[in-house]
Amino acid sequence: MSTSENRSPPSQTPVAHATTTGMTGGGFYNENSTPQWDAIAAVLPLLEEAAASLPLDGSGPVTLVDFGCSEGRNSIAALATAIAALRPLTNRPIQTIHSDLPTNDFSSLLRTLRPDGQSVFGSPDVYSSIAGGSMFDQLFPAQSLHLATSFNAIGFLSRKPVAQLPGYILPNGPSAVRASGFVSEEDRTAFSNLARADIATFLKARAKELVPGGKLLLQVFGGNETARTCDGIYDLLNDAVLAFVEDGTISRDVYEAYYQPVYLRSLDELTGPVTDPVLGAAGLFELNKATSYEIPVSFNTQFEADQDIDRYAKGYVNFFRAFTEAVLRSALPDDGGKDLLVERIFAKAEELLKKDPQLYPFRYIAVAVLLTRTAD
Ligand SMILES: C[S@@+](CC[C@H](N)C(=O)[O-])C[C@H]1O[C@@H](n2cnc3c(N)ncnc32)[C@H](O)[C@@H]1O
Repeated sequence: MSTSENRSPPSQTPVAHATTTGMTGGGFYNENSTPQWDAIAAVLPLLEEAAASLPLDGSGPVTLVDFGCSEGRNSIAALATAIAALRPLTNRPIQTIHSDLPTNDFSSLLRTLRPDGQSVFGSPDVYSSIAGGSMFDQLFPAQSLHLATSFNAIGFLSRKPVAQLPGYILPNGPSAVRASGFVSEEDRTAFSNLARADIATFLKARAKELVPGGKLLLQVFGGNETARTCDGIYDLLNDAVLAFVEDGTISRDVYEAYYQPVYLRSLDELTGPVTDPVLGAAGLFELNKATSYEIPVSFNTQFEADQDIDRYAKGYVNFFRAFTEAVLRSALPDDGGKDLLVERIFAKAEELLKKDPQLYPFRYIAVAVLLTRTAD
């Protein structure tokens, strides 16, 4: 079990084409990402379909890359499914590459890839490595990849399109239930335009790396007509931070400049850039499947069963802490009290949730596309 002492909160400056330094490390993301895994598990049939239809003529390794792998537990489990589908179809060696930002905590992943000197994938002739870099850049040689995946990651924007978001901490704005805070129409447009451009940038980079006929499975948290995966969690974080603005611990200027540069897309916002002639990625990929779906959330299900509010609040807050902490931390002033303030903000979130859980209902909607690289 990680504690706040042995966690390694990333505090470095983001690298180019990224707006976070990564998830909370030291095993914390791995321990608190069951909902993300459940969202990946729902699209494993698409991953199997992709792996079973890769172009396998030629020689050398068949290369599978997962972009935005974080600490790797979910990345390894996903690529294990792809390998199980692929291994019976070829004798070529298989290479898995787990890629994330250079500031990501890769240490758990590196310790896991070859336990006892054998591939974690338990299949002959599988070789694994890591690659640091932004997924919005080309990271691999031209036509060197066969399968690319990305799960729960492309919602993290490539840059901050506005300097401040004065009324809320997330571009998508507050939930209808909580309705506390605002994002102007102008700001919303800036973020939705960037979110579409980011998909196109990602597609252009992957189009260079993938062989013709190579597959891309791109999945991410998002929203539909009834719910958005930001509702509840960001309202709670917003309320927790505002409690410290109200008591004067955090200045209004700091609050107005702080936001999580994450955008929740609809399925149309994910698929549009595949064919939109303006964004420059049209024609690079054929769209095979597009899906929007909802998964049951593990800590909700547990709470329904045991009504244990302490356990619920811990699971709920640790879940969003794992992917918001780095950005929150970097937004707070470096005055020596930052570590304590971060602890107090997440403790306040637990307190608010326990007091009024119905203010912060959370649902997990995801969107995904399966694409095939066309021949140039
Ligand atoms: C919520 S985690 C998802 C991890 C894993 N794929 C899963 O589904 O459990 C998002 C990951 O995206 C990474 N990320 C964010 N922006 C990125 C970028 N520009 N390039 C590469 N990775 C990025 C973060 O560092 C983080 O590890």
